[in-house]
Amino acid sequence: MREPIIAANWKMYKTVGEAVNFVRGFTGLVAGVTGVEMALCPPFTALAAVAEQLAGTNIALGAQNMYWADEGAFTGEIAPGMLKEIGCRYVILGHSERRQYFGETDETVNKKVHAALKYGLKPIVCVGERLEERESGTTESVVRSQVEGSLAGLTVEQAAGLVVAYEPVWAIGTGRTASAEDAQQVNAFIRGLLRDMFGDAAAEAVRIQYGGSVKPGNTARLMAQPDIDGALVGGAGLQADSFAEIVKNSL
Ligand code: G3P
Repeated sequence: MREPIIAANWKMYKTVGEAVNFVRGFTGLVAGVTGVEMALCPPFTALAAVAEQLAGTNIALGAQNMYWADEGAFTGEIAPGMLKEIGCRYVILGHSERRQYFGETDETVNKKVHAALKYGLKPIVCVGERLEERESGTTESVVRSQVEGSLAGLTVEQAAGLVVAYEPVWAIGTGRTASAEDAQQVNAFIRGLLRDMFGDAAAEAVRIQYGGSVKPGNTARLMAQPDIDGALVGGAGLQADSFAEIVKNSL
């Protein structure tokens, strides 16, 4: 049985003060919740303060990006060891906004995945097609090359600990959620790719999230699908009450 993971990707939202307020409210709302892993992924500037607030809770901390080098003259970048030190368990890699606005490719995502694993961080690897790709019927080939490219060269053991997030780009921040059936279809396709790459046991162990306009009202239907093992939540993860409701509706 895969334990679902519901993660909030705060993107470039929340000051330190706002982040701390969120956590204070959220921890109370989900106290006693078990059977689902929860993670908060604040911007870099709020990681330390959120880590402090999360100490002693069952809520994990994640970052939204990192560079792949151990350290060095890379102005403006953050190294995996820095995230580990501050208390991150997860790091989101290859989000479509990073691919679209910051030139990330499957090759750079792959370097980051290897670097994250080297430092004991668990990557949440994002894949997903754009609207024109879905409309032209190329969803599967796009997702295939993202999965194969981003996860190249991993061992079976490394692969088994991954989280993959299927986020169709046309569903992100648009209010237009993929239907549970469409999301299930692509998530099952991704699991099949993982099976081909890493074998049955690893493919069964990987948690595959869905992301894209997840809200309290559509969570249960999405989570009822056999290959949807959680959600990566943007907008609805910015308010403690709506994110807590998503967590509870996933059970
Ligand atoms: O990473 C989560 C995200 O891209 C989905 O955003 O606002 O559609 O939930 P949103």
